[in-house]
Amino acid sequence: MAPHTEQLTRPAVRLRGLTRSFAGRTVLDGIDLDLPAGQFTALLGHSGSGKSTLLRAVAGLDHRVEGSGEISAPERVSVVFQDSRLLPWRRVLPNVLLGTDGKDAAERGRAALAEVGLAGRERAWPSELSGGEAQRAALARSLVREPELLLADEPFGALDALTRIRMHGLLRALWQRHRPSVLLVTHDVGEALVLADRILVLDSGRIGLDLALDRPHPRSPRDPHLGAYRERLLAALGVTEDPA
Ligand SMILES: Nc1ncnc2c1ncn2[C@@H]1O[C@H](COP(=O)(O)OP(=O)(O)OP(=O)(O)O)[C@@H](O)[C@H]1O
Ligand SMILES: [Mg+2]
Repeated sequence: MAPHTEQLTRPAVRLRGLTRSFAGRTVLDGIDLDLPAGQFTALLGHSGSGKSTLLRAVAGLDHRVEGSGEISAPERVSVVFQDSRLLPWRRVLPNVLLGTDGKDAAERGRAALAEVGLAGRERAWPSELSGGEAQRAALARSLVREPELLLADEPFGALDALTRIRMHGLLRALWQRHRPSVLLVTHDVGEALVLADRILVLDSGRIGLDLALDRPHPRSPRDPHLGAYRERLLAALGVTEDPA
């Protein structure tokens, strides 16, 4: 294969034989996975199935991943967690700019805040933000680095249902504009169905289901076509719905 072709087709994330155990208990059991550049992927799985462990390994935050496993990920990676992790002693804009430099950094930070609907809040303290606003600031902080890969670990898990729906729209719009590869960890089947173009289910240390979703966006959670996907996901998660 010609080098330039290889460049074009190389996945953003490539995992081969990724294994992780804690105290002799295997949590990730030889995972093979490719995430193509620019794909929006969701990762589902029971609590304790290893979703955060997988995300931390891809983020390069886990230095004890074992064996002959291979992990390759882009250079510019941003991670968003369930809590915003804003530093309480810094105002919003300096929080967004943390670890970013360059003479136009402040300008980019302001633009990122405007993109998430926080224009004018640059000088607010984190304690003055609502939970949803703090998560939007965290998204702005992740954007300002122009990540090739955005890793998000239940970023909306602590938000109320209405705010969560707004955040879904915002995340998808940001993805459409910037086109990073996204790996979104969630326990919420509905969230995965509305947002992702591919959904993985982690089960017993392996990818138990790898589902491509060919539905246009924006998606409604009531889209009847999503029903069949939902059934398959729930089955893979071992959940049976009461038909009543
Ligand atoms: N640093 C650690 N030391 C020991 N055990 C750990 C550590 N990190 C994770 N584990 C264990 O690995 C398993 C997977 O944890 P992980 O946090 O990846 O699950 P998860 O799928 O993200 O769960 P949740 O949905 O509850 O966030 C759990 O049983 C957990 O107790
Ligand atoms: Mg987790």
